[in-house]
Amino acid sequence: MKLTIALLPGDGIGPEVIEQAVKVCDAIAIKYKHEIHWKKALTGAAAIDAVGDPYPDETHEVCSTSDAVLFGAIGDPKYDNDPSAKVRPEQGLLRMRKKLGLFANVRPTFTFPSLIDKSPLKRERIEGTDLVFLRELTGGIYFGKRGREDNGDTAYDTCTYTRAEIKRLARKGFELAMKRSKKLCCVDKANVLESSRLWRETVQQMEKEYPEVTVSYEFVDAVAMRLVQWPNDYDVLITENLFGDILTDEASVISGSMGLMPSASLGESIGLYEPIHGSYPQAAGKDIANPLATVLSAAMMFEDLDLTEEAGAIRDVVNASLAQGVVTEDLAEGGKSYKTSEVGDWLARNI
Ligand code: IPM
Ligand code: MN
Repeated sequence: MKLTIALLPGDGIGPEVIEQAVKVCDAIAIKYKHEIHWKKALTGAAAIDAVGDPYPDETHEVCSTSDAVLFGAIGDPKYDNDPSAKVRPEQGLLRMRKKLGLFANVRPTFTFPSLIDKSPLKRERIEGTDLVFLRELTGGIYFGKRGREDNGDTAYDTCTYTRAEIKRLARKGFELAMKRSKKLCCVDKANVLESSRLWRETVQQMEKEYPEVTVSYEFVDAVAMRLVQWPNDYDVLITENLFGDILTDEASVISGSMGLMPSASLGESIGLYEPIHGSYPQAAGKDIANPLATVLSAAMMFEDLDLTEEAGAIRDVVNASLAQGVVTEDLAEGGKSYKTSEVGDWLARNI
């Protein structure tokens, strides 16, 4: 198969982790006789520095004409403490999601048997955890009306959802639930927010189309608590943009390291694959970042391209590296650790 994949390394540790994923994908291409054509493009602070725009038109062109997008990370501390900055790296990511129509962010949380004791949570609580968040990604407060009034002393961001936006996300949730354990949890704050009431109403109306799926409705504050207490109670969770942002960071604690969890952002056509961690600027250039979340994101990409065996081969080699202790320092617990590039080389060699 001939594949064109847009490669967006982004900022901080992005380029380093992306490089390892490319090694692994290239090894997969050799083994399974595919041809991967990588098209590198600028995004984030790197793009602001180069061309003054965190998501340049050329990058959009590259993404929208590829089969998939593999993305590193975005963000640079020089923008974080400057509320007056006019352009920010994150705007690039948001614009990319919107322009590529990536409305569904799939964020799985699972545990690795060999890492169960790395989690700060008790083994008996998290063993066997395997859940997936579907976070709405192109609506809500991230894209609502925002502004200042009162000479700058009042600021507002509004959360707006249409029934159609909720429906298309919920449909992906129901469909995923049908493929898994037929359990769906709709996370909202319907006791307070009107937009949440529209979520609940819309999802309730869809229930009859999926009679086999058991749907529960829970408030986001309660889920935040129960998620780390009883993660095994959950399977597929659907939620709006900001709740999903917060809960998926929280959920990553279950797996023991943020450096492990992959994600996919899907729309009607193209998919974007990225680790859920950020640009981790303190580690940039040191060859110490954990590349596994990005490598596992590449596995999700192969899966969605219907290359299931290839995806399985990547997951197997990742499991083997963990079992054999070929890990970066975040997972080494004072024992022997490997550099980012060494882990990438090992994975590629063992595909
Ligand atoms: C994420 C990130 C982004 C978000 C930021 C960088 C804009 O935290 O992908 O979860 O809030 O969506
Ligand atoms: Mn986030």
